[in-house]
Amino acid sequence: MKIISSIKEMQRISDELRLQSKKIAVVPTMGYLHEGHLSLMKIAKINSDVLVTTIFVNPTQFGPNEDFNTYPRDIESDKELAGSIGTDILFIPTREEMYPSDFLTYIEIEKITNVLEGKSRPTHFRGVTTVVAKLFNITKPNIAVFGQKDAQQAIVIQQMVKNLNFDIEILIAPIVRESDGLAMSSRNTYLSEAERKESVALYQSLQLAKKLIEDGEWNCSLIISEMKKLISTKPSAKIDYISIADAETLEELPVLQDGKRMLISLAVRFGTTRLIDNIIITK
Ligand code: PAF
Repeated sequence: MKIISSIKEMQRISDELRLQSKKIAVVPTMGYLHEGHLSLMKIAKINSDVLVTTIFVNPTQFGPNEDFNTYPRDIESDKELAGSIGTDILFIPTREEMYPSDFLTYIEIEKITNVLEGKSRPTHFRGVTTVVAKLFNITKPNIAVFGQKDAQQAIVIQQMVKNLNFDIEILIAPIVRESDGLAMSSRNTYLSEAERKESVALYQSLQLAKKLIEDGEWNCSLIISEMKKLISTKPSAKIDYISIADAETLEELPVLQDGKRMLISLAVRFGTTRLIDNIIITK
């Protein structure tokens, strides 16, 4: 596995690979790799000739009171894990090169970034789309893989790729869960033992919603209110939002819609740790 930190060097290698007609897949990450990331890499690997994994804790997607400084980092373990899946190139740029002091350009996607995560984290998606566009221009991939865990991020990136005509195929990989159902996330390491036990309520509430829908419920407020009741039994849980929305437009739905892909998503704080999860359903 080659480790590259220079943007110019990465671009040069990608140009060479493209000249050789190699199919490049990129998996952008912020490191602290876990099984969830590895599943994205496995999908990228089988769909390409060259797998580029990127590690960059992107400052522009963190709000002023968020966890940029404390975001977990373990570059040695990341190198080992990325290598174990067959990453060919590990791209680890520096903050100085990614955001030099004269940096002035941001990508903003309208409307779908103002709801759900965007409501609580108003500058988050502008940071995500900006860094992802940069990583696309640097690694020059044919394919990029993102996780369904960050459902809104996946939708926003697909919108950006469509609107800005990036010639890149976007693959969305399913959520990888712990044995009790908690979706894997680097932020799970922040949870105390008690919070970790209670955090399974996210998955349980989604399963409850699924069951209510399967049993014939159509009313979204009623489904959301049952999810709230379940989560409220956990003392450390504080709900940020629970939403049932059109999975493309992210518009809230008062009732389920026949034949539509719908996104049930939620964000809940356990102590100081904010976790998100989701499922896609069709009626
Ligand atoms: O999902 C993430 O880890 C980040 O948002 C991403 C896509 C790597 C951009 O920094």
